[in-house]
Amino acid sequence: MASIEMRNIVKQYGDGFPAVNDVSLDIADGEFMILVGPSGCGKSTLLRMIVGLEDITSGDMVIGGKRVNDLAPRERNLSMVFQNYALYPHLTVFENIAFPLRLAKTPDDEVRRRVNEASDVLELKEHLERKPANLSGGQRQRVAMGRAIVRQAEAFLFDEPLSNLDAKLRGQMRTEISRLQRRLGITTVYVTHDQTEAMTLGDRVCVLRKGKIQQVASPRELYEQPVNLFVAGFIGSPPMNFLPASLEGGNRLSTPFGPIELDEKRAAAVRGKGDLLLVGIRPEYFEDATLVDDAKRPLGSIFRARVDVTEWLGDSQFAYIPYEAPDQLREQLRELSRELDSEELRTQAIVSIDSTSRIREGREAEFWLDSRKIHVFDPHSGENLTRDAQAGARLTEMANEDRLEQVEHAQSTGQTVGGFGDTGGGGTGGGGTTGGGTTGGATRAGAA
Ligand SMILES: Nc1ncnc2c1ncn2[C@@H]1O[C@H](COP(=O)(O)OP(=O)(O)OP(=O)(O)O)[C@@H](O)[C@H]1O
Ligand SMILES: [Mg+2]
Repeated sequence: MASIEMRNIVKQYGDGFPAVNDVSLDIADGEFMILVGPSGCGKSTLLRMIVGLEDITSGDMVIGGKRVNDLAPRERNLSMVFQNYALYPHLTVFENIAFPLRLAKTPDDEVRRRVNEASDVLELKEHLERKPANLSGGQRQRVAMGRAIVRQAEAFLFDEPLSNLDAKLRGQMRTEISRLQRRLGITTVYVTHDQTEAMTLGDRVCVLRKGKIQQVASPRELYEQPVNLFVAGFIGSPPMNFLPASLEGGNRLSTPFGPIELDEKRAAAVRGKGDLLLVGIRPEYFEDATLVDDAKRPLGSIFRARVDVTEWLGDSQFAYIPYEAPDQLREQLRELSRELDSEELRTQAIVSIDSTSRIREGREAEFWLDSRKIHVFDPHSGENLTRDAQAGARLTEMANEDRLEQVEHAQSTGQTVGGFGDTGGGGTGGGGTTGGGTTGGATRAGAA
């Protein structure tokens, strides 16, 4: 297993179009990194450059400390798991998993040992004699991963592996992949355009837009401290609400939902940044004002608005509140929602209120919003003017500490795949390298 470092990676296709534009990204040994962004932003291209299926126009791709730009895919010893799993229908599960070892003419007893180990971890032991046609989607996915495991690949690369499964199975597979990744501690890069998948799976998430990195951070940091309008609108469902605003005298923002008082730090960050600003507030930072207790009330602002639609979901409730916005902003939000493929970024706020709230459609109601939780964006550059970079960095540090702790726990309880890192004599389908001695004993991943 190995770290993956990308230095100023550019990919220009024949027509000169930069599908990937100056991407620099460090993925730690054992880390689970997600590449996410709307269709066409360059996710698959980037993944294919890591594996070696696509030439790199410029920049350096470094895997396990070694520059691999000029190495063929099989010399990089990475394992790509595709959407359709690419299993051989006429071979049993055992032989499907063993396939790369057979190719490498690995001795029989070694093949048996490794396949047994992998199928143990993957809980496929009872199914080894079956054919892929008689497996569930989830089991097939595990067979594909088993093949990657026996190869002792340096890293797993996934390109939207769950996109052709139904919602329920997708949920199950998400849990399973995440559990396995922890257990194996194999460096993993996972491409998806689904922000929920990105948020639930990754240690860190790299958000791409038009070939450029927007932000690389833990899911929590992306959610709470987005760097710009694009990340703020992309992460979270329902998305963050954006309201036109202007800074009046003092620290007061005027918005369609009444005035919002900014603390001094935020006000200072916003002052002098133009007449038109955009305030971002997540749905859960609103409440039915009649349900907010007296201690909390003064920490936010109260406004009256007419509710267009309510959606009661049992454990929660959403209210849709239309508001007026200048044409320029209206057009900008429309463009952003087109790019994000989201129907919801319109000039209406979606607010989450308590499920017991009696606020009704078509009526006016009083709402409370938590002024401490707002972000203010520059609508021209999209920059989040009030981002707290330190608070954000802390969130990502915490996620990394959690990861290392889990890795350590898995190691101490022996939940690893034995034999990883021993060269086994037979070589592997990936060319028989052991990644320059980056692995040792029955361990993996970076406690380093
Ligand atoms: N072989 C090619 N020749 C020219 N342009 C290409 C080629 N492959 C991809 N592109 C372009 O490069 C850009 C990035 O494509 P890529 O497949 O990496 O996007 P993606 O983020 O994986 O999108 P999706 O979510 O739709 O899979 C797109 O604009 C695409 O049209
Ligand atoms: Mg793609």
